[in-house]
Amino acid sequence: MSTNLRIDGERLLSRLAALSRIGATPEGGCRRLALTDEDKQGRDWLVGELKALGLDVRVDAIGNIVGILKGQEDGPAVIMGSHIDTVGTGGRFDGALGVIGGVEVLAALRDAGVTPKRDMAVIAFTNEEGARFHPDMLGSYVWAGGMSVEAAHAEKDSDGAGLGSELKRIGYHGAEQPGFLPAHAYLELHIEQGPVLESEGGGLGAVTGIQAICWLELTLTGRPSHAGTTPMRYRKDPGLAAARINIFANELTKTIPGQLANSGVIRTWPGNVNVVPETVVMTLDLRNPLDAPLAEAEAAVRKFCAELSARDDISISFRDLARFPATPFAEELIASVEASAAEFGLPIRRMISGAGHDAQMMSRLCPTAMVFIPSIGGLSHNPAELSSDDDMVAGANVLLSAAWRAANA
Ligand code: GLV
Ligand code: MN
Ligand code: MN
Repeated sequence: MSTNLRIDGERLLSRLAALSRIGATPEGGCRRLALTDEDKQGRDWLVGELKALGLDVRVDAIGNIVGILKGQEDGPAVIMGSHIDTVGTGGRFDGALGVIGGVEVLAALRDAGVTPKRDMAVIAFTNEEGARFHPDMLGSYVWAGGMSVEAAHAEKDSDGAGLGSELKRIGYHGAEQPGFLPAHAYLELHIEQGPVLESEGGGLGAVTGIQAICWLELTLTGRPSHAGTTPMRYRKDPGLAAARINIFANELTKTIPGQLANSGVIRTWPGNVNVVPETVVMTLDLRNPLDAPLAEAEAAVRKFCAELSARDDISISFRDLARFPATPFAEELIASVEASAAEFGLPIRRMISGAGHDAQMMSRLCPTAMVFIPSIGGLSHNPAELSSDDDMVAGANVLLSAAWRAANA
């Protein structure tokens, strides 16, 4: 279904610029950790934009913000979305592009004076990053019924602040039940956040699915002691154990195909120069395009830890922070994304997503697909994260075309 609908590129870029001023960092990125004051300011700005478009704006009990454009018929909606929270060293476009792209799709329909057959909506999901509360994709996970509202509200950040009380504090504990808007299809525009598209000559990505994710928190307990007087052989040092585990996980990536590993949190207690630490809390982010090798990597880590614990007399306990299987997207919607790119004469290639996205959760509910645009230098979760203006506008036009097609099919 070819249309003459077009995104207003200037307005897309100026809305992105406006959001990026909220929580802007001196390095040129954004820091809007979920449910902080900066996130609240971003949310308030977004709600203002949605209301100015005349959308029906609702907030659910997990803080997901929903803007609905009524279609000609009742029934499930075509939903677009992403997130506006960021990691600590966030860039300007991770998540923001998908939300604002969705806003611009609805704005373009308003401008053109057309009404889709089905309802269409844009959602900004709460705490996609998992940088403050766990798991990542929490808002869409709750929306999709994977986690109860109560369990999500009970999540605590590393300072002990509760997600539920933070939602109330910033005024985003809404009245709607998550998932209140039935979904006919879900589409998400996002920056690639990696180097593949750019290194293969540019063009867009039609995302075929998202790789499997396992986030573990390990608490290692040894014995605090004096760093100057305790001979090395008498120490029970969880800091050293944490280093060994980090290296072991890294080595696994050389033997298990597709395996990735990161230890992004390593906190020692008491954290004094001259004390062999008592406790270390560390995280492991393990990912693989396939479930079986990821399970193999996790089992190897657990076995290594059991042996290390016995040998060095360090107690090691595990807690799951996130665990999501590999998620394939819907063939008909992937093909529709490709057809939409072709409509604009844009090159597009199929690819898997290395990052987690709200689309991974929404695919539990309805046919789902994503559009990727190239990331310059492949950088993301970095203030220098960048994509070209042309690619952002192109990606939003592909989102518009694919969403319009789904809303009228
Ligand atoms: C989300 O940004 C992720 O960690 O993949
Ligand atoms: Mn993102
Ligand atoms: Mn991210």
